[in-house]
Amino acid sequence: TTGMCTFDPGFTSTGACQSQITFIDGKKGVLVYRGYSIDDLAEKGDFIDATYLLLHGELPTKSQREKFNFELTHHSLVHEQLIKFFQGFKHDAHPMAIMVGVVGALAAFYSDSADIGNPAERMRSCLRLIAKMPTLAAIAYKTSIGQPIVYPRNDLSYSENFLHMLFAVPTETYKIDPELARALEIILVLHMDHEQNASTSTVRTAGSSQANPFACIASGIAALWGPAHGGANEAVLRMLEVIGHVENIPDALERAKDKNDPFRLMGFGHRVYKTYDPRAKIMRSVCHGVLKAAKKENDPLLKIALELERIATSDEYFIKRGLYPNVDFYSGITLRAMGIPVSMYTVLFAVARTVGWVSQWKEMAEDPVPRISRPRQMYLGVMQRGFVSVESRG
Ligand code: SDX
Repeated sequence: TTGMCTFDPGFTSTGACQSQITFIDGKKGVLVYRGYSIDDLAEKGDFIDATYLLLHGELPTKSQREKFNFELTHHSLVHEQLIKFFQGFKHDAHPMAIMVGVVGALAAFYSDSADIGNPAERMRSCLRLIAKMPTLAAIAYKTSIGQPIVYPRNDLSYSENFLHMLFAVPTETYKIDPELARALEIILVLHMDHEQNASTSTVRTAGSSQANPFACIASGIAALWGPAHGGANEAVLRMLEVIGHVENIPDALERAKDKNDPFRLMGFGHRVYKTYDPRAKIMRSVCHGVLKAAKKENDPLLKIALELERIATSDEYFIKRGLYPNVDFYSGITLRAMGIPVSMYTVLFAVARTVGWVSQWKEMAEDPVPRISRPRQMYLGVMQRGFVSVESRG
């Protein structure tokens, strides 16, 4: 059971969801996509490899890679009418609020890929969502800073395109830094899928009612936004800034231990990992690499993060509770060094996690015995009571 409800996504009588996509061992700190370790995929693979693997179950051959990349590239534009939606948001709207709205609105544009029972339409929805997320994310960012939007280019890789759409301006040629593009590839792979986390469970639950796939992914974006989940990367950076300016590390750690204090050590702890999140280790080395390339090795926030990690991981309170850095702990510092604004951190997480969401949605839709998710509960309320008229209610 999770909290007050017995989580049964309606797929099995055991109350647990069955999947062949991602395996996590929370005690050993192991994360595997379709049998391949996250370490191998991050180090030796790339976005296309990992995305194809999650969707299709196998690493792509050279020709499969080329075809898949062509398909994704040729779905990266969004309908021109949809671009008008962005003008309707307040200038300071949070990009995650925008993404929830515009991704849900895709349902109004692509009715030729909404039939969950049609394999070709299912795959078209998956490709459209994966391909369009960076475009929508970049439009949300450009609109928020009053810059003209930048269209995707078919000659660029997924990560290069994302950086180009975020940072290119009409007044000069944007030079793509290959090291930055590679770092982004790894970050996207690390964030792609993670078994039945809150947002993926939300997508599966929404999808189990055979709702429109674009609306299902919008529900996943909404769930990811919370600071206890994907919103933690933004919260970590703000926490490090507070510690850097107001709080010292020992006091911050004492506050984190105090149940009555709302202060939480963001980027620490995990529902499943009770040891180091394997993605955090890779994230930390990507962080060092990006800071070095950006000549920001002396980033004060990195120093605080490293010191916080050193002290907390040798503190009885955290060790006893299995609280270690998770994927969000170093991602904020890395993204900041890449020039990505804090407000876009969780959006980037959503871009990456869309691959896992659509892969798990597709797996659920392919279930030969589709059943609606219907979690049960432990009822702790009052049972039968006789009705009392308003006159005699005191
Ligand atoms: C993600 O599920 C996924 O897979 C998510 C994710 C993914 O890829 O989809 O991995 C992405 O969401 C990572 C998590 C990002 N969130 C944060 O970094 C926010 C800070 N972390 C905490 O809010 C917390 O650790 C959670 C929400 C992640 C987990 O909270 P739980 O379920 O309460 O953790 P727990 O049951 O293991 O807690 C054990 C104890 C509790 O204290 P006791 O009641 O036993 O005394 O540790 C405490 C908790 O109160 N605790 C913390 C803490 N996290 C847990 N105390 C201080 N600081 C923290 N960060």
